[in-house]
Amino acid sequence: MTPTSRANFGSRIGAILASAGSAVGLGNIWRFPTQTGENGGAAFILVYILCVLLMGMPVMISEFIIGRRGRANTAAAYRHLAPGTRWIWVGRLGVLTGFLILSYYAVVAGWTVEYTVASLLSRFQGMSGSGEFTQYFNRFVADPVMPVVYTVFFLVLTHVVIAQGVVKGIEKSSKVFMPLFFLLLLVLVGCALTMPGAGEAMRFLFTPDFSKIDSGVVLAAMGQAFFSLSLGMGCLCTYASYFNRNTRLGQTALSVGVIDTFVAIMAGLMIFPAVFSVEGVGVDAGPSLLFITLPSVLQSAFGSLPLLGYLFSLLFYVLLILATLTSTISLHEVVTAYLAEEFGLSRHRAAVLVTAGCSLLGTLCALSMGLLKPYTVCGMTLFDLFDFVTAKLMLPIGAFFISLFVGWKLERNVIAEELTNYGTLRFRLLRPFTLLLRYVVPVLIVLIFLNELGAGIF
Ligand code: PFF
Repeated sequence: MTPTSRANFGSRIGAILASAGSAVGLGNIWRFPTQTGENGGAAFILVYILCVLLMGMPVMISEFIIGRRGRANTAAAYRHLAPGTRWIWVGRLGVLTGFLILSYYAVVAGWTVEYTVASLLSRFQGMSGSGEFTQYFNRFVADPVMPVVYTVFFLVLTHVVIAQGVVKGIEKSSKVFMPLFFLLLLVLVGCALTMPGAGEAMRFLFTPDFSKIDSGVVLAAMGQAFFSLSLGMGCLCTYASYFNRNTRLGQTALSVGVIDTFVAIMAGLMIFPAVFSVEGVGVDAGPSLLFITLPSVLQSAFGSLPLLGYLFSLLFYVLLILATLTSTISLHEVVTAYLAEEFGLSRHRAAVLVTAGCSLLGTLCALSMGLLKPYTVCGMTLFDLFDFVTAKLMLPIGAFFISLFVGWKLERNVIAEELTNYGTLRFRLLRPFTLLLRYVVPVLIVLIFLNELGAGIF
């Protein structure tokens, strides 16, 4: 596709919803509670919010600038903006990161499909205590067949939407399903807050114990902020290449940041009351947390109303799949747009390559919970390794270079033009934005890395 014939998101709200659709996903509903549980609760959330404000927002606006100005896949965008330089490698690193994230993210996406099927078939009916849910989860992920089938199924589902093209596939699905998803999430939070552990959960989530903040917590919060906002790998940069001239970059970034953080906190409020209400689930249960507590919340909310419970749980899981799908689509799109535009492949063929490659790696990640569990690298299964390397290393490194690029390399008038929509509106925060990008973001990322290195955890 030549730069001039690129597709465009049809409306301003379409751009916001598509970006929010990318940002809101398993990162909020599954990974945020997991990380919060493993990193001490409220203290982690506090550092997380600081990371979103100080690093996430400036980097998101930067990706928007690079994408809309570069009007191409993330690698070519750098080539257009800084021809003949090595900056293109920042884009290529992003594509690789996207490919790796999609491979293991699809595994968790597959779990949501299993849970949808299980609620469709009423398999959770009659189960109570967390013991049964834990057993169910552990048995499922260790199975050598079904997790792989679901992982590949999810990738094929993503493929089908991608094949529909950007506007029809991405924009439309986000517009319809996101609002419905928020609504159901709110209902579930309401239910969770009536559980007996709600008080303890509130303390855990909102009363920070500052002694819990160490280098590992800060690194985890930074990684989670980039992961959850889809930053550091050119994803929102690719989406911004489909923005039109009227899309307000600052406003879009703010909306996405607020929506994403709101959904993450809501997910915390949905999960932790259940953690503190049912026996035998630790806050640090790790990746299984959501899949043990969510059925418990549903059970406790609708135990006495089986039909309503059945319908609600089914609808919720379906919407969780859709929220996940809007994220997998965005990951897939980064790699597909890159392969198609850089290697002159048809969109269709590029998409097939991405789906096939991710299916292969995804299969290995899925099996690393069962059959391949004994094979570890630095004590981590392949699944954990992919999560660690992408979220805690590659995304921050990507974000570091993105901030340097816009802060130091891109001309000031280009930045001003993009932020004011070519002089048609005011952007009051130009100076603070540039200062954050030049000095705060890159320095913080380096300090957080050095701090972690000093702690000897690598
Ligand atoms: N932000 C998504 C989530 O929170 O689920 C995951 C993700 C999508 C990460 C796209 C990175 C990305 F480029």
